[in-house]
Amino acid sequence: MHVLIIGGGGREHAIAWKLSQDPRIGTIYVAPGNGGIDELERTENIALTGVDELFEFAKDRDIDLTFVGSEALLVEGIVDRFQSAGLTIFGPDQQAAQLEGSKAYAKSFMKKYGVKTAAYERFINLDAAKEYVANADYPLVIKASGLAAGKGVIICQNQDEAETALHEMMVDKRFGEAGEEIVIEAFLTGFEASILSFTDGKTILTMPAAKDHKTIGEGNTGENTGGMGVVCPHPAFSAEHEAAFQQDIVAPTLAGLQAEGMAFAGVIFFGLMINDDGVFLLEYNMRMGDPETQAILPLLRSPLLDPVMAAIEQRLDEITLDWRDKHAVCVVAAAEGYPGDYQTGETIEYIEQARFFSQVFLAGVKHHNDEYLTNGGRVLNVVGLGDSLEQARSTAYSSIDKIAFKGITYRRDIGE
Ligand code: AMP
Ligand code: GLY
Repeated sequence: MHVLIIGGGGREHAIAWKLSQDPRIGTIYVAPGNGGIDELERTENIALTGVDELFEFAKDRDIDLTFVGSEALLVEGIVDRFQSAGLTIFGPDQQAAQLEGSKAYAKSFMKKYGVKTAAYERFINLDAAKEYVANADYPLVIKASGLAAGKGVIICQNQDEAETALHEMMVDKRFGEAGEEIVIEAFLTGFEASILSFTDGKTILTMPAAKDHKTIGEGNTGENTGGMGVVCPHPAFSAEHEAAFQQDIVAPTLAGLQAEGMAFAGVIFFGLMINDDGVFLLEYNMRMGDPETQAILPLLRSPLLDPVMAAIEQRLDEITLDWRDKHAVCVVAAAEGYPGDYQTGETIEYIEQARFFSQVFLAGVKHHNDEYLTNGGRVLNVVGLGDSLEQARSTAYSSIDKIAFKGITYRRDIGE
């Protein structure tokens, strides 16, 4: 079978890497791919990005399975388009993708079906929102409802900060259309966890919990990024947390998807906050996480194609995932300046040396002649495995320490 993967980050490199080990798969096309992806066996980058051109490509090349990496095209309705022509695609349709595309919609869904989450209100009117924050308890959290690449969330300590945030979102339109509707919710303390799952609409098959490190600075300081490192399994997520998660989040989510007629074959990523009151859902993402995927897939012993095809064929209840009894630590190397402005085009050296003991997934990287050049903010991911978290950590760091490019920036405290 021929597969099309849509995306070009470290996540898509990890997905392509895992699928390329599967003898059932012929050619893997990745759109647009990157400078690491096309080095895999039977794998090609293709320079396409829009729904229409991807659709034409999938039809012309008899693609048997399309796997969508990131959220934007899902929210645009790529799944509906492919399915209307009978093409097989793994991911939510446009309506289910709203669980990620609209935080207001997601919160209403959680409330309606009893998914445990922070108390909230939604607003489209600035004056109503201002009146609400004048009488609220602090801290509180103000979120642009639409897609904002993880940046549309502002934690406010007092009324002044809340009014500034409302102004930025609703008047200055800092997040564009995404801030036309906002969600204001109670601030939760605790620690966070990311749990990815496969679903076919009848079953939600969860993967081990992972711990993302969202800020650019060590000790969780500085601006939020797309993710600077991941540890899997999550060192603080216990069997009791897992039981609470299944009962308070997974079961009502599945019931809600069914009741709304929103069943689909794809991924649900649960962004969780855990404290003494239990496990709370902060957000749904309707796709694999980046960089969670880069830490999780090297731990998966069984083929990735099995749960994907089982989900599409609605027999996910027959599948058990086989996990290695190891720990994974993924460290992201970014360009200097990220998540603000950064340079591209720097030469990257010694990737092969880092690959000696660790898996290296490339993200913002392109080939030029025989060199690798930086081509994005998050440049690459180094994943160390070990029998303990400490061992995985030291493997990942001794490998990433070999890699060199001008301005290379990474946190030294991933998994500490
Ligand atoms: P989200 O995009 O909704 O996951 O929010 C991005 C980040 O903001 C989360 O990963 C948390 O670190 C933080 N956050 C979001 N909602 C809350 C909340 N209700 N309480 C505390 N922190 C939050
Ligand atoms: N690492 C968080 C995300 O993929 O949204």
